[in-house]
Amino acid sequence: MCGILGYTGNRQASDILLNGLAKLEYRGYDSAGLAVLDKGEIKIAKNKGRLKVLEEKIKSGHEISGTCGIGHTRWATHGEPSDVNAHPLWSDDKDVVIVHNGIVENYREIKNKLSEHGYKFYSQTDTEAAVKLIDFYYKQEKNPLKAILKAIKEIEGSYCFVMLFKDFPDEVWGARKDLPLIAGQGKDESFLASDVSAILQDTRQVYYLDNMEIVQLKKGVVRFFDTEGYAKPKELSEVTWDMNAAEKGGFEHFMMKEIHEQARAVKDTFGSVYHSGKINLNEIGLNDENIKSISQIYIIACGSAYHAGAVAQYVIEDLAKIPVRIELASEFRYRNMPMNKNSLAIIISQSGETADTLAAMRRAKENGIKTLAIVNVVGSTIAREADSVFYTMAGPEIAVATTKAYSAQLIACYVLAMQFAKVRNEIDDSYYEKLMSDIQKLPEKIDEILDAKETLEEIAYKFVNSRNAFYLGRNIDYAVAMEGSLKMKEISYLHSEAIAAGEMKHGPISLIEKGMLVAGVMTQKNLYQKIASNMLEAKSRGGFLLIVATRGCENLKEEADLIFYVPETDEHFAASLAVIPLQLLGYYVAVARKLDVDKPRNLAKSVTVE
Ligand code: G6P
Repeated sequence: MCGILGYTGNRQASDILLNGLAKLEYRGYDSAGLAVLDKGEIKIAKNKGRLKVLEEKIKSGHEISGTCGIGHTRWATHGEPSDVNAHPLWSDDKDVVIVHNGIVENYREIKNKLSEHGYKFYSQTDTEAAVKLIDFYYKQEKNPLKAILKAIKEIEGSYCFVMLFKDFPDEVWGARKDLPLIAGQGKDESFLASDVSAILQDTRQVYYLDNMEIVQLKKGVVRFFDTEGYAKPKELSEVTWDMNAAEKGGFEHFMMKEIHEQARAVKDTFGSVYHSGKINLNEIGLNDENIKSISQIYIIACGSAYHAGAVAQYVIEDLAKIPVRIELASEFRYRNMPMNKNSLAIIISQSGETADTLAAMRRAKENGIKTLAIVNVVGSTIAREADSVFYTMAGPEIAVATTKAYSAQLIACYVLAMQFAKVRNEIDDSYYEKLMSDIQKLPEKIDEILDAKETLEEIAYKFVNSRNAFYLGRNIDYAVAMEGSLKMKEISYLHSEAIAAGEMKHGPISLIEKGMLVAGVMTQKNLYQKIASNMLEAKSRGGFLLIVATRGCENLKEEADLIFYVPETDEHFAASLAVIPLQLLGYYVAVARKLDVDKPRNLAKSVTVE
């Protein structure tokens, strides 16, 4: 997501910050800014758009002099990309200036509290609440550490803050929770960065901050504190990666990095609508009255977003009992179908720019249908034109084959399904509580699956020379099979088809050859036996059976060539777990085939033409 940097030393801070931020551009961003503390004054420059614009604005750094500063590349989450919302943000009198990565979940409560103390807010960001809360305590304590400690006890969410305090020259302060922050040690200078790649050209001596730690930088001195304010010793580490690896966080490809970011994407997406123990859809433009009046839902999307919608179709129909049609945007836009005015069109798109999806959304609007967009890129065209938006919090996705954005889309869909079901009284309170509990456990279960990824790496080599594969499932498992199959074909170029398992006998079975990969998904108990029979039909014709099943499923234990178990969860959420091994399988086959995983041939991340 956002890139963060801090520097104090003897060199011009703006030069160091501009160079370092350039190394973070790969993360994707929509605005950039920096602040430099010089002679008791903090000077700030920031803008929507590229770093180049910022660089020109401050004439390559020479108009902002000073040797202590902070910098930021922003990827908008709260508040559209704009000059005002760009970081750094400051307290009313610019005593405290901050850059931030992450989400302050309880920013509304904080703003309300501070408003009562006379604070005014000028941006749409959650970050402004944080800087003003720190300032509020700073005014009482006159001590950065004490102010930060008090503020972070109140701030909920995940964050990495880097700050300047006007009255503390040559000092940069930082704090982190759940998001990375690294301190770099140079000779007579020190650094803070969200990502080691930003400081590698200056130092390879780094400290990795633990969760809930506070850091103070002085020229060449780095000190750490715990949440009680006690100093903590820490060991210096030497970074041995090259620059390229550093940008990928040590992973060989962005795709694998993003696969590992899924737990966070899922958590943040849920966290964006979950406040004080409750899901609140008012802020995405849906109140109880709207929800009760929906008589039909159309889910409209392309590619993987369509596959997320396919899962949602089953989940919404089953939980909320609202009829759902899932539509390919490229088809929907040219259809003449009668549409009920009480319908809701849910538009799913990572980029928010896919031409067919945008056209289909406009078509729905022309028909007088309310549109709700589930979008990852803030301020994108679909987000701007939809009646309301549910932003997924996946952060920028670099690899063409989507993983974390798809996972975040699933969560947004589950949240809608749960809330629709609750508001329409289709589920009782105790089941709703179970769903609430299970959805919040998904991140840790995703990480648990990733811990076992080597099993799939080993098996992938079997398919290096394969030409065809089938992915089978029924209901939600069919929707997962579609996404798994797409991952395989997108990046490994292995021809792969997803088949609703019951359709096998109506044609596809004639294609099964000895050794062909037949992957089956089994997460829905009432269908275990059905899909097991279809898999056995494939096995008896020579298929290599790879099963992704929920732990506890006893079927095919003897007959499968490999069973990869995923943890149990409510069956409506099982797609979020079952898809992970299938993403990994596609990835490992592509790696085994020595292909360009992140930039597969002929494909684009964002398809803005018809
Ligand atoms: C392209 C991408 C896919 C994506 C699809 C829809 O084909 O390669 O990963 O699922 O477009 O994109 P959207 O941005 O609308 O989700």
